[in-house]
Amino acid sequence: MSLRVGVLVSGEGSNLQALIDTVHSEGVVEIVCVGSNNPEAHGLERAREAGIERGVFAASDYGSREERDAALGDWLEQHGVELVVLAGFMELLRPQLVRRLAGRIINIHPSLLPAFPGVHPIEEALDYGVQVMGVTVHFVDEGVDSGPIILQEAFDPVPYSRDIAAVERRVHEIEHRLLPQAVRLVAAGRVRIDPANPRRVIVEEASDGD
Ligand code: GAR
Repeated sequence: MSLRVGVLVSGEGSNLQALIDTVHSEGVVEIVCVGSNNPEAHGLERAREAGIERGVFAASDYGSREERDAALGDWLEQHGVELVVLAGFMELLRPQLVRRLAGRIINIHPSLLPAFPGVHPIEEALDYGVQVMGVTVHFVDEGVDSGPIILQEAFDPVPYSRDIAAVERRVHEIEHRLLPQAVRLVAAGRVRIDPANPRRVIVEEASDGD
C-alpha cells in the first residue's frame, strides 16, 4: 500500500503539480487530500483536475487559529494521512497541530536554511547580496522554517540584477525535483532523525530494489 499523503497549499500549487505528476502518478504515494487556507488557491484547481479531494480551511472562518488548525488536523486524520507536505503553504501551523503530527510534516522552502526563513526569502537573499542560493526540504517543528533538514540543493551564480522572476524560475526547477525526491525517500522509509543528534537527518542508502 502506498503512503497516504496530504498536501497543503496557499497559491499557485506548482509544487503540488510536480508531486501529482511524479510520485502520485507513479503510485509511490497516494495524495489523498489537498487543503488550503485560501479558497482562491490555484492549487485547489490542480487537485480537482487530478480527482483529489479538497478542503478549504481559511483562518477567517474560525474563531481562532487554534480552532482552525484543530479542524485541519481532524480532516487530515479522517483521510488517514501519514505524511503532510507543505507545498507553498504560507501560514505557520500552531504548535498543537505540529505536535499532533510530529515527525510527519515536511516543508519546502526557497532558501538555504537557516538563512532567510519566513515569507520573503528570495527578496531578502537578493537584497543581502548572496552569491549562492538554494532550496531546502525539512521537517516542520514548532519554529519558523527551523526543523531538521532532509535535503538541500544550492545553485549559483545568482543573477546580479534583482531579477526576482528569473530566480523564482530557477528555484522552481530545483523544487519540482527536490520535493518529489524527499517524498520518495520518506515513502521508502529511508529518512530518520539521528538519535544522537535530533538536528541531523539520516538518509539511508538505497537497498537493492529501491
Ligand atoms: C515555493 O517556491 C515554495 O518554496 C515557497 O512558496 C512557493 C510556492 O510555489 N514556500 C515558502 O516560501 C514557504 N515559506 P507553488 O505554489 O507554485 O508550489
